[in-house]
Amino acid sequence: MNFQLSEEQLAVQMAAREFANQELLPGVIERDTHQKFPAKQIKKLGELGFMGMMVDPAYNGGGMDSISYVLAMEEISKIDASTSVCMSVNNSLVCWGIERFGSDYQKEKYLKKLSTGEFVGAFCLSEPEAGSDATSQRTTAEDKDDHYLLNGTKNWITNGSTASVYIVIAQTHPEKKHKGINALIVEKGMEGFVVGKKEDKMGIRGSDTHSLMFTDVKVPKQNRIGDDGFGFTFAMTTLNGGRIGIAAQALGIASGAYELALKYSKERKAFGKHLSEHQAIQFKLAEMATKIDAARLLVWQAAYLKDQKKDFVKAAAMAKLFASQIAQEVTTEAVQIHGGYGYVKEFHVERMMRDAKITQIYEGTTEIQKMVISRELLK
Ligand code: CAA
Repeated sequence: MNFQLSEEQLAVQMAAREFANQELLPGVIERDTHQKFPAKQIKKLGELGFMGMMVDPAYNGGGMDSISYVLAMEEISKIDASTSVCMSVNNSLVCWGIERFGSDYQKEKYLKKLSTGEFVGAFCLSEPEAGSDATSQRTTAEDKDDHYLLNGTKNWITNGSTASVYIVIAQTHPEKKHKGINALIVEKGMEGFVVGKKEDKMGIRGSDTHSLMFTDVKVPKQNRIGDDGFGFTFAMTTLNGGRIGIAAQALGIASGAYELALKYSKERKAFGKHLSEHQAIQFKLAEMATKIDAARLLVWQAAYLKDQKKDFVKAAAMAKLFASQIAQEVTTEAVQIHGGYGYVKEFHVERMMRDAKITQIYEGTTEIQKMVISRELLK
């Protein structure tokens, strides 16, 4: 693996950093406080090519590699994890899933607009009684010859009310268990599809998380992704790549909090000298920086393997497991270094500490990552 980033990759990193500082930083506290979705910022991210970064230019994408993607995710997440989760779901779950497994019709109709941010996508797997246990889908997609009749409820769906396109995982042949599951593309506005309540969350409060209800929604057969019964494999395969994006998000939250703590430690004085001159603080900074570098190596490794078309399942789960864990630790230490100031909104680190927690929950909890890793080790 080459640790020297290419000029193109450095340019992507710089563009994302500038965007985050200029467009995201100014309103980030207000969006968090009032749970306001960054609609304008997402539109601009789309115009700049950040919503379909890895998609083939033939479908309006950026044609970039996964390393560029994780660089951009880290920079955006340093400032605003609510924006980066929207970006991550669109790029690595919805765009990637449709490009890799969708039909020409689906790519023409949906992917071309998802790549530019004209459409925002959502990935709907979790249910009230099927979070980690994803094979237990209760949502049903009854086969009616030329269409499916979709019924059920999905929970905690990122981009729930702002999306135009929803990939919904549902059971068609219960007797076949996970081999009877399908992935369907559902459009906002289809009759019987209702966006439910918005979740009042601990963190990533600017992101738009809802439950969704489907009552006799007629979904044309041409909106099924892959063959009949492919839906669970589709979801698992897509999530393998999605975990790289969330690992990069966790890394970004950690590195954002670390940078603020480092800066603060050089400005704030206590007991007659800067905090950074106290060994107690130096040791904290040393540990935080070491953890961040280790997480970055895991994230880059997973992205590199994906780019090389090698097996990256274990590497992605390891990156997510470790980066989400150190995001918790580093943001907590960043608050500690800030003392009382760290506990108030103005200094950003309290938001980062709240935001970090979700990276241990979505796209597979910490425990799910350990399951995935150990299965890979033992197979
Ligand atoms: N990659 C590819 N295929 C996989 C896989 C993986 N990582 N993990 C399992 N599979 C396949 C298995 O090979 C098996 O297929 P076959 O029968 O054809 O061999 C099939 O899936 C079923 O596997 P298991 O029998 O092992 O199923 P299980 O129930 O014991 O465990 C699980 C499966 C790994 C726990 C899975 O349910 C899982 O990953 N759960 C977590 C779901 C998740 O990540 N949810 C996040 C929601 S999406 C989200 O958060 C998006 C957002 O808004 C930010």
